Parts: sequence; C-alpha cells; structure tokens
Amino acid sequence: MGIAAASGLLEGLDEIADIGRDPQRGGYSRHLWQPADMQLREWFTARAHAIGLDVETDRNGNLWAWWGSPGPDAVVIGSHLDSVPGGGAFDGPLGVESALAVVRRLKASGFTPHRPVAVISFAEEEGSRFGVACLGSQLMTGAVSPAQVRALRDDDGVSFADAARRVGFDADRIGRDDEALSRIGVFIELHVEQGRGLIELGSPTAIASRILAHGRWTLTFRGQGNHAGATLMSDRDDPMIAAARAVLEVRQAALEMPGSRATVGRLVAVPGGSNVIASSVAMTLDARADSDEQTRALVASIAERVGASEFVENSWSPQVTFDESLARLLTRAIGEVPVLPSGAGHDAGILSAVVPTAMVFVRNPAGISHAPEEHAELDDCLAGVDALESVVRSLVA
Ligand code: GLV
Ligand code: MN
Ligand code: MN
Repeated sequence: MGIAAASGLLEGLDEIADIGRDPQRGGYSRHLWQPADMQLREWFTARAHAIGLDVETDRNGNLWAWWGSPGPDAVVIGSHLDSVPGGGAFDGPLGVESALAVVRRLKASGFTPHRPVAVISFAEEEGSRFGVACLGSQLMTGAVSPAQVRALRDDDGVSFADAARRVGFDADRIGRDDEALSRIGVFIELHVEQGRGLIELGSPTAIASRILAHGRWTLTFRGQGNHAGATLMSDRDDPMIAAARAVLEVRQAALEMPGSRATVGRLVAVPGGSNVIASSVAMTLDARADSDEQTRALVASIAERVGASEFVENSWSPQVTFDESLARLLTRAIGEVPVLPSGAGHDAGILSAVVPTAMVFVRNPAGISHAPEEHAELDDCLAGVDALESVVRSLVA
C-alpha cells in the first residue's frame, strides 16, 4: 500500500499489508481466531505496547489498549481488524491504526488526559467466520445469546466454542460484560467511507448521522437430488431453479422499495457436483432499509415471493441514530463537515444502544468497499486522524 512512507503515522497499515492476503480474490481474508487474526492480535499488542499502552483481551475476545487505568468514563476509539472474504485493506484497520496514531501523537506532544483513553479492536465485526455481524460488540452489550453464539458453526463445521478452545480462549465466559461497559464514557469509530458520498461532496471527512436497519438471513430450497444425465427435464425437482428465481425476486423486491438494498452474496448447492441435480441450495440474504419497519417489510415481501423451504434469521441490527450532542461536539472540534448516513453496519451502531457513540468517515476515492479495490488516500487518512485527535483532545482535556 505504501501509505506510510510520507506520514510515519499510519505505517501500521504497511506492517500488516501481508497478513491474511486472499489468494483467490485478492485483498484480505482475516477471520476470527484463524492464523491471520491471531497475527493481527499480536501486531496490535506489540504496537500498543510500543506506545506504552496496557493491552487486555476482554471476556468476548475484544482487544483493549489502555492509556491510564481502565475506566470509568473512558474515551474509547477504534474499530476492528477482521475482514470479509477478500476484503479491502481499510475497512476496520484504518480505524484501529488511526486510533493508535492519535494516542501516539497526544503522548508525543506531552499531553496529559484527564480521562482514561482506550483503543479497541472488536472481534468478528464482519461475522465472516460465524455468520453474525458485530459479534464482539453484540456479546459485550448482551444483544446476542451466549449459548446461541457458542453453538454457531463455521464453514468447516467448527463451533464457536471449539474454535475458542483451539486458541486457548474460554468461551464459557462470553456474554454481556457490565464491567467493560461501565468503563466506556463515549465511543468514536473512524472508518473508511464505503460508498460514494464523500466523492460527490468533495470532502475528505464526514460525520455519521445514522445506520440503516439491516440483517442477515439464510434461505434453504429443497428438491430431489438426482442424476444430471438420466433425469428428464420434465421429471426434475431441482432446487437450483427455485434459488435462481429467488435471486431475481430479491433484487426486484428491493427495487420496488426505493432506498432499500438486498443482496444474495452466497449460494451453496448440496452436494455441489457438476453432474448432480442438487438436493438443496442454501442462499444468504442481506437486507437493509432506512427504518426497522421498512426492512422487515422488505424481508416479508421477499419471503412471500420466493417460497423457501426454510427462512432463518441469523442477525438483526435495528436502525441507529448516533448521539446528537457528541456529533455537535465533533463538529465544534473538527469544523463543519458533511453528515452522512451509513449503509454499512458498525460496532459503533451496536454500542450506541448503551453509550454515546459517533463515527468519522474518511473519503474512499474508489467508492468501493468489501472488495480489494477499497481505497483511501494518505492525505484523507491524515485528515481523519486530525479530526479524531481534535475530538479526543477536547473530550479528555
Ligand atoms: C459490515 O461492514 C456490514 O455492513 O456488513
Ligand atoms: Mn465491513
Ligand atoms: Mn468496518
């Protein structure tokens, strides 16, 4: 990426540039407790130690780096280090590295904070291994059931509990963490923008207003597995046909509700042989819209149109409006910048249910995210770090 050379501030992004590269799509595949994630945890720990922070892992696998003794009323900044399959370099790591850069700058300037400051890296934000988005923050806030999370399975059939055990993490202790929550005064997440908003507005940074309601579902279509050559077309009960129709219906339902979005990102045929009519096809659905009601209506309309054999909700995140007084404080600290809604989900959205939260976006000139082409220019990243530094200074002075 070479982003560090000019700045000396964001060289962490260069340090992790080779961790978890995806050989198939390009970009990065960094999933909870797999080798890349473990290497990133080590990197975070070393980088935080290098600026004199104390690092701990909480009961839900989130990493904290403390400047000052932990809480209460801490200013917490950060994001996540995991990625979608074949994701970009910035979604998550930019927020973590920027938060570390802010602390490093404040320390270097001899600044003494009057509140504790922590940098956090949330676990499994993308939900790429176990299917549930913002898993670390959802567990911490009690938004998901620990028993259900322990039973989640990855694509290889490994349960969350077993995956935890393999890396020496005690999954019996996951769940709402009142001690961790009581330490947080405010949470601010810096994040690469994931759409074209800031390109169109011609600004390097923005503040987030809200997050669309969104969720994930798995639809299963069942049919009769059979022989691809011996079964006449008229004799088939091929679930791939129902799944293919469903993909088109998903798109049509979203087109009929302006502003909503619906995506089928994955189709898995069982057993998946080229000369085998499948017995079943599993299909993921990601659906988002302005309000909870609209999103629920979109999903109900899809359910009615596609007639799946099973329609299971994997995760649900209600619409979020970020804290207005914290947003005003951000504007006072960094000046007037555009205010944008987020079509993407974030840990900041989960935390907003329990503490005041805000987000700073950094322009993405590609307008592409969750793909290797995701990008942010160094100058814009530095504008984001400046913004985050200003607001943290004003909160802890
Ligand atoms: C997370 O990036 C999401 O919105 O899916
Ligand atoms: Mn993401
Ligand atoms: Mn993210």
